Amino acid sequence: MCGIVGYIGGQNCVPVLINGLESLEYRGYDSAGVAVISNGAIEIRKTKGKVENLRNLLLEQPVSGTVGIGHTRWATHGAPSDVNAHPHFSNDDKIAVVHNGIIENYQELKEKLQAKGYVFHSDTDTETVAHLIDDFYKQNNDLLEAVRLTLNVIEGSYALGVLCTDYPDQIIAARKESPLIVGIGEGSNFIASDIPAILNYTKNAYILGDKEFALIKADEIKLYDIDGNEIHRDVYTYNWDVEAAQKNGYDHFMLKEIYEQPKVVMDNLSRRFSADGKHVELDGIKLGRAELENINQIYIVACGTAYYAGLVGKYLLERMVRIPVNSEVASEFRYKDPLIDEHTLVIVVSQSGETADTLSALKLAKAKGSRVLGIVNAVGSSIAREADDVLYTLAGFEIAVASTKAFSAQVIAMYLLTLHIAQELGTLPEKDFLEIKEAMLRLPSQINDILTKAVPAIRSFVDKYISSKNVFYIGRGLDYVVSMEGSLKLKEIAYLHSEPYAAGELKHGPIALIESATLVVGVATQESLFDKTRSNMQEVKARGAKVLAIAMQGNRSIEEVADDVIYIPRTHWMLTSVLANIPQQLFAYYMALGLGEDIDKPRNLAKSVTVE
Ligand code: AGP
Repeated sequence: MCGIVGYIGGQNCVPVLINGLESLEYRGYDSAGVAVISNGAIEIRKTKGKVENLRNLLLEQPVSGTVGIGHTRWATHGAPSDVNAHPHFSNDDKIAVVHNGIIENYQELKEKLQAKGYVFHSDTDTETVAHLIDDFYKQNNDLLEAVRLTLNVIEGSYALGVLCTDYPDQIIAARKESPLIVGIGEGSNFIASDIPAILNYTKNAYILGDKEFALIKADEIKLYDIDGNEIHRDVYTYNWDVEAAQKNGYDHFMLKEIYEQPKVVMDNLSRRFSADGKHVELDGIKLGRAELENINQIYIVACGTAYYAGLVGKYLLERMVRIPVNSEVASEFRYKDPLIDEHTLVIVVSQSGETADTLSALKLAKAKGSRVLGIVNAVGSSIAREADDVLYTLAGFEIAVASTKAFSAQVIAMYLLTLHIAQELGTLPEKDFLEIKEAMLRLPSQINDILTKAVPAIRSFVDKYISSKNVFYIGRGLDYVVSMEGSLKLKEIAYLHSEPYAAGELKHGPIALIESATLVVGVATQESLFDKTRSNMQEVKARGAKVLAIAMQGNRSIEEVADDVIYIPRTHWMLTSVLANIPQQLFAYYMALGLGEDIDKPRNLAKSVTVE
């Protein structure tokens, strides 16, 4: 959560910081602020709310300078307010700090600092860092060393940007378990939580590792480890263009990302099959027959949408490889002393690669001797760096808080991984593999087909039921997993109460909630379960529900139990999830649009959840 950007160079930093913060707003939008070195002093402008508010504040109270840091906040300690907004000052306004993460021992440190006479103005944990640096600096008169000593004292997670009036030609940055990169420009350098913030200026950056810090000047960057030793790091070049971080004519990033899915799926399928077309080839995965034969169970661990993508993997792996697969949300897995060992393969799934719970789950799995495979979107992220094997999902930037194209890419990764493991272990006949591969290669055009045809039907359904307050999602097997993802999307952006249920479970209680005009989305794309799910839809319809069905083309009998039907093109049973989810994304999007909600920045949420 929280976005950080910093600039040092020859031009006025304020527009650079503001533009950077706007592209980081997906990380949090409770408040925004900048600190700029101006005529030997640090000027801070900060305010509650979105970056737009900060932009307006800067029109009333302009500031300029060539060195500055900025922050957009997702509140953890202290309510969203002007005073809790970052940057935070030391008491004599000499040192300013922006921070992403949580200082876990801040209370204890705060008491010690208060005993020394430091006065706290905010409720944040971050203010402790500003005072601590100041305290060390007063003792040794060396800012870099003061920051290093501070890093040795604080516990928890941090990405930090630090300014000091005594060093008007430098920014100090540090990170542990929260992302931070140091962008390399020409005559100017940057810090940022993520590359979109600085993509207008550079594609080259150093990716800071845990407990590393950097001294950044306009024409020089030095990197250090926690002991103060200078370290060297290869420059990472981001292979993305500026347009990837722009809406390109779409009203929302979410809609743009929904429409990018044919390309994303194609990107994830091209170059993933051997030249003779008979095998899956996954760069970065070193799981051959010998390693797989050593494994007697698989755990798939993730959060939110990534967890649902993992559940697709569970259903497929168990059915096609016949290995027991447990799927757990990371926040539960990490505290339950899971039964895993060196014979367990742990698969972690994450778009951002920075989710705190998933990262902790990964570390726990490694500590217990398990092999960890990461399915990750963000290149060079913490999870990508810590996993033993990495399968990148190639979805590009996903900016909307509600995940869409990343889910599709994660599901495709699950398909590929299942095929790979099944082939290595000999549980998938070549004939079946070839049939599935051909069906997979048709997915991009089939997604395109849904995007072209489904919108009018979905919009008309939304128009009819826009005043609904409760929406149930039902399905069986893989359709149940898709229902969970559909329900989450509707909650996130349309703020509607919504529940996913295994369709067969309804009669054990939840069906009591169905009454006249309750909305039910019924997913029935699994042919082997079609009749069963259809019967469950009939049951809710008989009790007055309005039913939107998602079914495979040709299964026209669904029309007898549904008010409206969205058909997906016919495909292999194992591949339906990626198609069935597209209408659900559109449904959530148009419901949120109809209700006038802030689709790309839903309340209380942030894109990258780097706190527990
Ligand atoms: C998806 O729409 C959500 N915003 C959220 O559930 C997300 O998938 C989850 O926080 C996991 O994030 P990650 O993939 O970056 O680890």
